[in-house]
Amino acid sequence: MPAAQPSRKFTLKAFVEELRADIAHNRIKLPTLPNISLEALVVVNDDTSTVAEVAEVVERDTAIAARLVKYANSPLYRGVKPVTTIKAAITRIGFDKVRHAILTLAMKEVFKTGFKPLQQRMEELWEHSMDVATRAALLARDIEHIDQEEALLAGLVHDIGAIPILLKAQDYEVLVNSRDNLNKLIAPIHAAIGRDMLKVWKFDPRMVAVAAEHENLNRDPGNAPVDLVDLVIVANVLSHADTDHPLARVNYRDIPAFRRVNWQPPPPEDGPEQEEETMEDIEELRDLLI
Ligand SMILES: [Fe+2]
Ligand SMILES: [Fe+2]
Repeated sequence: MPAAQPSRKFTLKAFVEELRADIAHNRIKLPTLPNISLEALVVVNDDTSTVAEVAEVVERDTAIAARLVKYANSPLYRGVKPVTTIKAAITRIGFDKVRHAILTLAMKEVFKTGFKPLQQRMEELWEHSMDVATRAALLARDIEHIDQEEALLAGLVHDIGAIPILLKAQDYEVLVNSRDNLNKLIAPIHAAIGRDMLKVWKFDPRMVAVAAEHENLNRDPGNAPVDLVDLVIVANVLSHADTDHPLARVNYRDIPAFRRVNWQPPPPEDGPEQEEETMEDIEELRDLLI
């Protein structure tokens, strides 16, 4: 239940200590993944399940089902004949990738709060997460060993640690009434909180790494191949360009991830046609998430 009146006295030390203890003792106010998705994940994770069995579980949630078909027809699978049934959608996406697809489609439900004064902040977080997700997916298009689908999900979950912080913040007037205070609180701790959440949710370790390390602009794994963390570092910085966020003032040349993904500013010869094509891809990917 949302608190009627935020009333608790805030100290940073106590807030962080309490949040950490909540995580350690499994008491954290974690938004839960929608039931259908959890059920579908159990079936998908079971080696003995068939496409028909997964289709049956997914079909029980008509919203997710319709979106899964849309997902299979998205730019992620461009150039292939459209599919119209759940079964065909699962076959198209690939059995091993359906898990990520379902998580991606369920993620919007997690960015919710019943507490009115922080609703806008939560919506902004969702918007930002979608923006990073679509940018990461577009970057992944040029990298053979990274799936665009995975990049999309990585972008969606990179700031997920901000969610329990927002949910807990509703008890403190000093946070509810000051955007600035809230941002100052989220900035240094959301990566560690996100890492812990995704571990509890048994996410792929590569997604956990994204939550944990996306704010570490100096990260440089040397000759190791480009990974999801690189993509999300770049997508996150680009997402904050031209805003008043501190990341808008960084120099891309100082960030190893930009070099590692071989990021180039859009060439000046990129005509309106290319630009329009990219915008269409972004719109279609966004459309998939909402
Ligand atoms: Fe972040
Ligand atoms: Fe972010």
